[in-house]
Amino acid sequence: ERTAQVLVASNRGPVSYVPREDGTLEARRGGGGLVSGLSAVSAEDSVWVCAALGEGDREAVRRGVSEPGVRMLGIDPDVFTAAYNGIANSVLWFVHHMLYQTPLEPVFDLEFRRQWAAYEAYNRAFAEALAAEAADGASVLVQDYHLALVPGLLRDLRPDLRIGHFSHTPWAPAEYFRMLPDDIAEQLLRGMLGADRLGFLTRRWADAFAACCEAVVGGTGGTELGVHGLGADADFLRERSRRADVEERLETLREQIGPGRKVIIRVDRTELSKNIVRGLRAYRTLLQERPEWRGRVVHVAFAYPSRQDLKVYRDYTEEVSRVAAAINEEYGTPDWTPVLLHVKDDFARSLAAYRLADVALVNPIRDGMNLVAKEVPVVTDRGVALVLSREAGAYEELGEDAIGVNPYDVVATAEALHEALSLPDTDRAERTKRLAASATALPPQRWFVSQLEALGALDPRG
Ligand code: G6P
Repeated sequence: ERTAQVLVASNRGPVSYVPREDGTLEARRGGGGLVSGLSAVSAEDSVWVCAALGEGDREAVRRGVSEPGVRMLGIDPDVFTAAYNGIANSVLWFVHHMLYQTPLEPVFDLEFRRQWAAYEAYNRAFAEALAAEAADGASVLVQDYHLALVPGLLRDLRPDLRIGHFSHTPWAPAEYFRMLPDDIAEQLLRGMLGADRLGFLTRRWADAFAACCEAVVGGTGGTELGVHGLGADADFLRERSRRADVEERLETLREQIGPGRKVIIRVDRTELSKNIVRGLRAYRTLLQERPEWRGRVVHVAFAYPSRQDLKVYRDYTEEVSRVAAAINEEYGTPDWTPVLLHVKDDFARSLAAYRLADVALVNPIRDGMNLVAKEVPVVTDRGVALVLSREAGAYEELGEDAIGVNPYDVVATAEALHEALSLPDTDRAERTKRLAASATALPPQRWFVSQLEALGALDPRG
């Protein structure tokens, strides 16, 4: 108790528990930027506070099963569901990514108020756990929109701590953000401003946040804003992508694609913000308007399941399959399948796709950063042309060497795919080299340490 010098808090933790046949629990370790980032800090001094997400996790909490350095919170399932599915993923995610279809959604009704109370309780559980674990003057890095109220709540409990919060999402312009009820918008911003320092992935999101604070609470007060553009982990990716399981998947994919064909890849969670359906429609437009590509290109699309508790996500997943099947129906021939859609999550196969891509399509409606855009140029065997939405945070760093698109414009996206497929080899190679250099400028460990250093350099609030 009260010994941790560095604390991280996030909804999804580094481990999850899956029940085995014999009733014991299997601990599965996850990946991602935060996991490799935190490895920069010694395990004895650090604690990662996260939520029990499913039944396996909750059972682990009940049995007292845990991993060193991880503190999982057993939150009441109804509270968790209302906070995570109701507020975080159905409201805050939509606001930050500007995903609402405004004539119909959102409606902030009594049900929303009930869910908001759960979101408060869930944030309070995190603040209390952090307050109980943190050593005097420790640094706490709170992650993302799930935990926006934690900095303010924790500040009240432990004024001695240095508190940082990092947003992995975009931030909406004030006019859009103010769709939230006035009191909720204010509570959210004041909650975040309880931190000493707030981190964002790009200048654009940090500026939008500052504009929201200006409009709603009159400014950011004493809280510092910083930009830390999370980059790809080159060492890990280069080593991992040359292992035997990746080589195996490379062979299978090559067989499915057929000889002599160009390959357009995309790899995403099946996420509303990723714009997969318009991406497929752009590919269809390419086949329609540029018939010379028929039979000579394959679109390899990986769309991995995400947030399937929400109906809009289930519907979207179906729509993705339907549109892909319709393209194959319309243009496919006995020896050419225009779209290869895979929905079962397989990291080794994603890396194989990165290696053989001629073109990578990354066309989100909005994205905090988008690491696929950064990973492909690092892993590629032969150089890659990147078609990149100007609404992805990564565009700020990669835009000059990518082919930029307006994600809503499927005709322009189709033209961008044509341009990318037609890029001369030398041009493509040079762009790839520059893309890889920009993409790896701030790898996860340095990204993490840079935040800790910035936080430590501030005068503690008194
Ligand atoms: C985004 C968010 C993360 C989240 C991830 C996966 O990257 O910024 O906080 O963990 O999506 O979403 P999920 O709801 O499955 O945790």
